[in-house]
Amino acid sequence: MAEVSNTPSSSRKMYIESYGCAMNFSDSEIIASIMSEHGFTATKDELDADVIFLNTCAIRDNAEQRIRERLKQLRSNKRQNSDLIIGVLGCMAERLKDKLLEEEKLVDVVAGPDSYRELPKLVAEVDEGGRAINVLLSREETYGDLNPVRLNSNGVTAFISIMRGCDNMCSFCVVPFTRGRERSRDPQSIVKEAVDLQNAGYKEITLLGQNVNSYLWFGGGAKKDFKSLTDEEKASSVDFADLLELCANAVPNLRIRYSTSHPRDINEKVVRVMAQYPNLCNYIHLPAQSGNTRVLDIMSRNYTREWYMDKITMIRSIIPDCGISCDIIAGFCTETEEEHKDTLTLIEECKFDFSYMYKYSERPGTPAAKKLTDDIPEDVKGRRLAEIITVQNRVSKENNQAYIGKTVKVLVEAASKKSKNDWMGRNDQNIVTVFPCEHYQKGDLVEVLIERITTTTLIGKAIGKTTI
Ligand code: 5AD
Ligand code: SF4
Repeated sequence: MAEVSNTPSSSRKMYIESYGCAMNFSDSEIIASIMSEHGFTATKDELDADVIFLNTCAIRDNAEQRIRERLKQLRSNKRQNSDLIIGVLGCMAERLKDKLLEEEKLVDVVAGPDSYRELPKLVAEVDEGGRAINVLLSREETYGDLNPVRLNSNGVTAFISIMRGCDNMCSFCVVPFTRGRERSRDPQSIVKEAVDLQNAGYKEITLLGQNVNSYLWFGGGAKKDFKSLTDEEKASSVDFADLLELCANAVPNLRIRYSTSHPRDINEKVVRVMAQYPNLCNYIHLPAQSGNTRVLDIMSRNYTREWYMDKITMIRSIIPDCGISCDIIAGFCTETEEEHKDTLTLIEECKFDFSYMYKYSERPGTPAAKKLTDDIPEDVKGRRLAEIITVQNRVSKENNQAYIGKTVKVLVEAASKKSKNDWMGRNDQNIVTVFPCEHYQKGDLVEVLIERITTTTLIGKAIGKTTI
């Protein structure tokens, strides 16, 4: 049995690279925490590392191709340092399991999203000359007791994972297979993490989960439906709106965001809580995926176009200036031109501030791969995606134009990518805003008068510091 050291005396260096969604970046901070308890410190220099972890994504084929390319590059690292340990973690590891060890000879460790506590042991097995894998999924693991080590942090914004896994089974999606069943993290540990971040000087947190609106804590264990709880469990249960309220009260000086919402589950209670607390940002990421009801049906999204539009109306009736963004898939199985046009009109009618837009990529093992035909030719997918992007860009620009001459509250996150003399931050609605640095500092909340805009950015000048 391999021995696992938990004293930092023999400090070894770990380099971790994250791909995919925010959840994965958050997981990397959990991994760093686990490894640091076993004598590994994080390094930003891959050439200095004893262990390189790639925390991978499997959502589309091109995400996996990127990681294959990266593994090819890492061959030279291994040539230079034969003791170097390379681990593939996360969703691609979970999807491919031991196939990954067969296909990629330089990989020493394969670990899925629920087996990070085992990483020190897996690395120790490699130290003894083996290759190691653990891809067991769990119904309980939330890593709720760990203190994430903040990696590549700007010291201003941080992620807090509030739940893991997904039970939705959208037909196109690999996530239920790579991240397992849905489970919620104990609210006290979430609030504690938020308070710790506030004490450490952070100014904004984002609560993360694959489907935050189905967050439900009733004392522990695997997910249950609210209806199936006992009276006692119901009385003490915490749903997502309750959790938002707990956080809003616990850290009144932090801005709070969350992601991702599901149109079927988002409800008035959540939106009313958002409206009630000034530190809950007026922003909702609400993926529609398609604007056509038949396509939504074969995607197993469990809502219609009308249902989705009603949710948008509900949100805007309670928070008129709520920022709303969307995810859209172009060219899903059997989608007709007419059905694609419904997606274009959905963007216009919902006036999304921005969208993440993708070509459909069939994922092996998903319900769509098993039951439907990926029959839209690549060039048609590409053309539909381009049309979607064109409409969304126009709508984004129109939305942004309405900000000209108005002031917005911007939390300064970092220097602007284009100029060191400008700060970059986001307004309440999550729209990127840029303004001259002057005497303002990272972490300041600044009132900014908007003078110009682009498709993605508001540009203005600072008026003064402000408060939430
Ligand atoms: N192909 C293309 N896009 C996908 N997404 C999820 N699965 C696929 C797929 N197979 C998109 C969805 C989801 C976002 C995270 O990625 O829009 O909301
Ligand atoms: Fe990629 Fe989905 Fe896994 Fe996130 S949960 S890393 S988006 S496959």
